[in-house]
Amino acid sequence: MHSKESIQQLFQSYYGEEGVEWYFSPGRVNVIGEHIDYNGGYVMPIAINYGVSAMVKRNSGNVIRIYAHDFQEELHIQRFDKIPMSIPGSWKSYVTGMLTIMQRKGIVLDGLDMLMASDLPIGAGLSSSAALECLIGYVFAGDYYDEDRTELAKDAQQAEHEFAGVMCGIMDQFAVACGKINNAMLLDCQKISCQYIPFDLGNYRLMVINSNKPRALADSKYNERLAECRKAMELLRFFHPVSNLVDVSSLSLAYLEDDTLYARAKHVISENNRVKLACNALLDGDILTLGQLMLQSHESLDEDYEVAGDELNTLIEYAMMVKECIGARMTGAGFGGCCIALVESGAEEKFSRYLRKKYKEKTGLHCEVFAIEVCDGVGRMDVGIF
Ligand code: GLA
Repeated sequence: MHSKESIQQLFQSYYGEEGVEWYFSPGRVNVIGEHIDYNGGYVMPIAINYGVSAMVKRNSGNVIRIYAHDFQEELHIQRFDKIPMSIPGSWKSYVTGMLTIMQRKGIVLDGLDMLMASDLPIGAGLSSSAALECLIGYVFAGDYYDEDRTELAKDAQQAEHEFAGVMCGIMDQFAVACGKINNAMLLDCQKISCQYIPFDLGNYRLMVINSNKPRALADSKYNERLAECRKAMELLRFFHPVSNLVDVSSLSLAYLEDDTLYARAKHVISENNRVKLACNALLDGDILTLGQLMLQSHESLDEDYEVAGDELNTLIEYAMMVKECIGARMTGAGFGGCCIALVESGAEEKFSRYLRKKYKEKTGLHCEVFAIEVCDGVGRMDVGIF
């Protein structure tokens, strides 16, 4: 997270005056429960202390100016009745997409100057896009969304569907909108309701490893997996009167003759089960079991769901060679991006040195390794509660 001073300084040097409101929108890490949010499953994400920071000053004119420090680009909207369309997947598309969704439901947009800067690796599977969408929603209509943060998550998801073309589930936007410090969210994606689970890892730290493997084709592959799950569900519905793939019994999987569809459905059903076990393990303070479940999750994502790939597998393999690491898995959609690992406190430096060295030797790529904390969802940072 950028400090208030540094974000203020950036605002000042761009706009030539001081900003007034300071915001932070976190990225997310999914602890376990991958590729099952769009199959009606349980997932367990956390909001993290890396994300997009912003400084804002309302202006009295009808102008929205948003400067993205990381891209050195400005989005300038002069007339609110004509929000421009942007190239799908560009940072501007998330902003204009979100503004369009808000306007469509009657939210009045006020003019403002805003500067944003991120310390979250962009496009690395830590939900930089959800962080951006929720930030925009919150800056323009914080009071409105404070009434129901789930609505913010749903609107941000809609923006992603319509304006970035990724038919994602609700997990990322929910984690960013509804995150709670020191707690994981056990999110039921059928009901879109969540239970907060104290995220106490005892003597372990959660570390992120960014593979720096570009997530090429990730969006199209994501939509492909979604289509495979829909297809499996369609076939199974004939034998099983359920509407979500996670609710199919593992015995019924035998009805799927296609090997690929069988493997995809097998992952979905087993992963949903692992989330429930992981939740119990966390509540019991049994971090060793949590680590084991993370490893099993990775194996299933690699072998049955086929979204891991060489780089992420290499990272997991090396991570598990460090004796202080008790579990690791890819996190997010996969096809590159990040892994997470449970590492004994005090061994963080040793762990990251080993991984950086071995990963570079094997792949030629540099990986970043850092410990994370669990923080609150999107919010204004410079106001007290009372
Ligand atoms: C992306 C999507 C989420 C979820 C994960 C995989 O991050 O945005 O909705 O499906 O992939 O678990």
